[in-house]
Amino acid sequence: MEQELQRLQDEARQELNALTEIAQLEDFRIRFLGRKGSFGTIMRSLGSATPEDRPRLGQLANTVKAEIERLFEEKQSALSAGAAAAKADRDRVDLTLPGRQPTIGKLHPVTQIMNEVCAIFEGLGFSVAEGPDVEHDHYNFEALNIPAHHPARDMHDTFYVSESILLRTHTSPMQARIMEAQQPPLRVIAPGKVYRCDSDITHTPMFHQVEGFLVDKKVSFADLKGVLTVFTQKMFDKDLALRFRPSFFPFTEPSAEVDIACVFCGGKGCRVCKRTGWIEILGSGMIDPEVFKMVGYDPDIYSGFAFGVGIERMAMLKYGINDIRLYYENDLRFLSQF
Ligand code: PHE
Repeated sequence: MEQELQRLQDEARQELNALTEIAQLEDFRIRFLGRKGSFGTIMRSLGSATPEDRPRLGQLANTVKAEIERLFEEKQSALSAGAAAAKADRDRVDLTLPGRQPTIGKLHPVTQIMNEVCAIFEGLGFSVAEGPDVEHDHYNFEALNIPAHHPARDMHDTFYVSESILLRTHTSPMQARIMEAQQPPLRVIAPGKVYRCDSDITHTPMFHQVEGFLVDKKVSFADLKGVLTVFTQKMFDKDLALRFRPSFFPFTEPSAEVDIACVFCGGKGCRVCKRTGWIEILGSGMIDPEVFKMVGYDPDIYSGFAFGVGIERMAMLKYGINDIRLYYENDLRFLSQF
């Protein structure tokens, strides 16, 4: 038994020396020191030793056990120190590495174009005014010469809040609001959101317009053409073909819709311009005398022009975007390009 104990101690020392992982320690402990382990087996044979040998053997067994336990603990602390060092090494922060760039937000392309449009008109002496999205039927329609049941109301698929309150279908109510409050001469632009119950590749239920109007003595259609020509040239940085197409709006007379040559197909006709080669960017005209009368201006003294520019359309043309819905899907891959 003495020899067996000695061998066990040697074996334990060798095995412990060979251990490299903390995870292997438990297996060692069970095999050597556990209840059913090697040490236990030897101890059970103590009973068959002679009474004279027993005390000495018992003492020896205790010494061997203590030694194995000591070696075990020594190994355990060595391995866990190593593991801690390795973890510290893995987690070390390298202060010489370059930092991560914070992502910087940008203005939405629609906001950018809106700012650009406003800046161009401000350069032409217009001042900026803003009005409510939730509007009275009066300003959205009545004051613009569109009484109830007028067929022109069909052009606007209106979202009604109540019988007399609605989401404005255009920025033109700002004409009535400003003229009601101020006297000519006026040069105003009014940017903002407008709403129509409409949705396809060139329409979203909410979109943006910039309204512009000028009222003074002796304002003519030639002034309107001049201002809009300067505007499109500045906006697209080149001489784009411009087309004034006779149209109808109850609040302007005469009226014209202004198209620019389709930038996608160069005027040949494609899906975006619905095969016409032209894209409508704004509605315009000379302010109707009826509108002047409603705000108390004398139409024999004053004349003026007005226009409403669709901002999303403008941005589509400027950036070559062929589906208006992309603006409102909040896809950063799209938005971060501008
Ligand atoms: N308000 C019209 C629209 O949204 C555009 C327009 C504005 C037309 C001003 C003439 C004058 O369709």
